[in-house]
Amino acid sequence: MRIAMIGTGYVGLVSGACFSEFGVTVTCVDKDESKIERLKRGEIPIFEPGLDKLVASNAAAGRLHFTTDLTEAVKEADAVFIAVGTPSRRGDGHADLSYVFGAAEEIARAMDGYTVVVTKSTVPVGTGREVERVIRETRADADFDVVSNPEFLREGSAINDFMRPDRVVIGAETERAREVMRQLYRVLYLIETPILFTNLETSEMIKYAANTFLATKITFINEIADLCERAGADVHDVAKGIGLDGRIGRKFLHPGPGYGGSCFPKDTLALVRTARDFGAPLRIVETVVDINDKRKEAMAERIVAAAGGDVKGKTIAILGLAFKPNTDDMRDAPSLAIVPALVAAGAKVRAFDPESMNEARKMMDGVEFCDTAYDTMPGADVLAILTEWNEFRSLNFQRIKELMKAPVMVDLRNVYEPEMMAKAGFTYTSIGRPW
Ligand code: UGA
Repeated sequence: MRIAMIGTGYVGLVSGACFSEFGVTVTCVDKDESKIERLKRGEIPIFEPGLDKLVASNAAAGRLHFTTDLTEAVKEADAVFIAVGTPSRRGDGHADLSYVFGAAEEIARAMDGYTVVVTKSTVPVGTGREVERVIRETRADADFDVVSNPEFLREGSAINDFMRPDRVVIGAETERAREVMRQLYRVLYLIETPILFTNLETSEMIKYAANTFLATKITFINEIADLCERAGADVHDVAKGIGLDGRIGRKFLHPGPGYGGSCFPKDTLALVRTARDFGAPLRIVETVVDINDKRKEAMAERIVAAAGGDVKGKTIAILGLAFKPNTDDMRDAPSLAIVPALVAAGAKVRAFDPESMNEARKMMDGVEFCDTAYDTMPGADVLAILTEWNEFRSLNFQRIKELMKAPVMVDLRNVYEPEMMAKAGFTYTSIGRPW
């Protein structure tokens, strides 16, 4: 089998490398020449554990190629995956599909023989049908099927998520297209992964409904956490107590500063807009979006409170800027709401993140970026953990106490235990636990 992957962003690159690991011959296509050159040299533009090795070994085995020549790649392919960006459109929050339709047109012109055109990017319900129309209008004689095959990768564990998924969802409406997809995912059939075949619209809806449900679950536990604080309950025990009920499940009940990243904020908003357009508003999701936005802003207030109600002229040490660990991704990270609010309130902010500081430098003003976690701390009034990187889970308390003005910690990811912090002599604030 041979495929072309259009777009070497996060989803395209990970999916391309993983399909080649399955034994498929993959050509990854991107318009960005310098990116393709770098990929050919084995330089990976994103931080994703294990991706560099996977790309290197499959490129060396001759199964993974990189090119800017879409026509050549598509001509030879049994299936062409569209994995280009679908950013939020400025102004209305709808997904911007211009890259998807642009790719569909180019693919139509280049196709040679029966081709399955697969949308891998997260696209609103109805997009597959539109892609079908664009291809038909560009090339009346085209022999093709459009398939929806959404991705459920998490940044930081994307390779494992692709190789050992809970399920694969495929919206394919002809037996011919389904057979091509079965062949591509042959390896997953061998490990008995549930593979769900649906129509185009259902598959597209599953992706949005999944992300929206998870975002709702997180928002639910975040609000319960706020209530726990007032009521003297411990949110972790509450999460465990409800999560052991198989109908609820234990995952995605970790409270924090609000969800961020390239997917949940964009997808929740896009589904809200789509639902309104269809005249079937999703009131729960609308509320989730609103609560989560406000929550990120409110997190800065916790740090101000820990500093005694005013941060003017005070030094705040920030550990973690990425929206979650094991990624350099800063998109919609809670830090983007918290840090500027502290700077605006007159704080001197020193920050460290293991991977995302290059990105952060472009997005934040008035921040001193430090080389190590401990470099943020000399003379600091408050130490705040914004991302739960492993290296922040075993900080040296004695060293922190010697460096800081006073040992005050705001732990927005509940990395530490309140009791342990009290014993260590810290004034400690976390989320949803009595202190
Ligand atoms: C998410 C989904 O988990 C993937 O299944 C999906 O494929 C992906 O979006 C996508 O649509 O491409 P991702 O954004 O990489 O993946 O990150 P998650 O691990 O899901 O975390 C999202 C946000 O929720 C983070 O800000 C994280 O800190 C937060 N979160 C997650 C919590 O606050 N609590 C939790 O219990 C779990």
